[in-house]
Amino acid sequence: MNFELTEIQRDIQKMTREFAARELIPNARRWDEHHEWPTDAIDKLGELSLLGIAVPEAWGGAGLDNVSYALAMEEISRGCASTGVIMSVNNSLYCDPVSKFGTEAQKEKFLKPYASGQKLGCFGLTEPQAGSDAAAQQTVAVKKGDRYIINGSKNWITVGPKADAIVLFTMTNKEAGNRGITAFIVPTDTKGFKRMAPDKKMGISAAWSCTMYFEDMEVPAENLLGKEGEGFKVAMSTLDGGRIGIASQALGIARGAYEEALRYSGERKSFGKFIREHQAIQFMLADMATEIDAARLLIHRAAVMKDKGLRHSTESAMAKLYASEMSGRVTNKALQIFGGMGYSKEMDAERHVRDARITEIYEGTSEIQRIVIAANLLKD
Ligand code: CAA
Repeated sequence: MNFELTEIQRDIQKMTREFAARELIPNARRWDEHHEWPTDAIDKLGELSLLGIAVPEAWGGAGLDNVSYALAMEEISRGCASTGVIMSVNNSLYCDPVSKFGTEAQKEKFLKPYASGQKLGCFGLTEPQAGSDAAAQQTVAVKKGDRYIINGSKNWITVGPKADAIVLFTMTNKEAGNRGITAFIVPTDTKGFKRMAPDKKMGISAAWSCTMYFEDMEVPAENLLGKEGEGFKVAMSTLDGGRIGIASQALGIARGAYEEALRYSGERKSFGKFIREHQAIQFMLADMATEIDAARLLIHRAAVMKDKGLRHSTESAMAKLYASEMSGRVTNKALQIFGGMGYSKEMDAERHVRDARITEIYEGTSEIQRIVIAANLLKD
């Protein structure tokens, strides 16, 4: 067992940490307050090859491993959780399945420009009646000659308002249940594709999401991703990777909150001494640091397994479950250390609490992660 990062992994960590300090931390509060999409930051992530980190260089990516991806996600999310999830969606939920299941022609058209940051992709699984129960897809695709006619809707699609293409899940055979689900790659300028205004959310306000409708939308059969009827497996294996990204996002948010609380505890005085000299505060800081490290270890284990090509559903679920709930605990403790100032919009502590909360919900709620973990335990 080796806990040392490679030289390349350390370089990525340093580069993204500096990027976050320079480009994200000074702007994140403003972006959140004005619900402003971080256009420049996303463009720069593309220039730095951070939008297709684990995609091979031949397909426009950086050709790095998933530990590098996790490290970059932690640092970018430490700077701005909204920027972090935009990066995660393009890397994990769009580029990864196109890279894994796409044909050469699809990769040329739908991977290269996305992994290199010229375009953005999103992932359309969630529907009004198919959230946790992802197999209950009601968006229907009907084959007509060499095309499919798609009708239905998706909601809460992160990056949806800005995406150039979507990996879209549809039902092609209702009787077959999850084996009747089929994935497509659909450009968002396809006739019949409609997007609504960005959703109003509690946190990650700069990472826009929206509802979308498909009305008699014609998609050529060549845009089918994977085989007809195998879409559920495309979705589930994609989420195994996506959960590493969201766990890293949760970790980054927690680290930001912790670092700011640690610093503040050496500036604020009460009862004649710095608050960090009170054991009550020291215990909180000790718990926060320990939980942050534990989450990172779970995340890196899942990332190493993905790099080795091993099934990592359980390990990703454990990492995502622990990191997201840890982020809730740590950001709340950080707010507590800031006291009244923590509740003020003039500080970042309250934003960290709001941003952390979604990580327990999207890409599978904590309850879904427990289902995935338990299903594996009961198998043995
Ligand atoms: N990899 C490959 N195959 C998998 C798999 C995986 N990780 N997980 C399941 N499968 C396969 C199973 O082997 C099974 O195959 P067979 O039919 O051939 O046996 C098939 O898929 C069905 O598996 P289950 O019976 O376990 O499926 P289920 O209907 O009980 O659902 C679930 C399982 C875990 C609850 C699943 O529905 C799930 O993960 N739900 C949560 C959905 C989710 O995470 N949504 C997030 C949306 S994206 C998002 O949030 C993005 C964003 O905003 C940033």
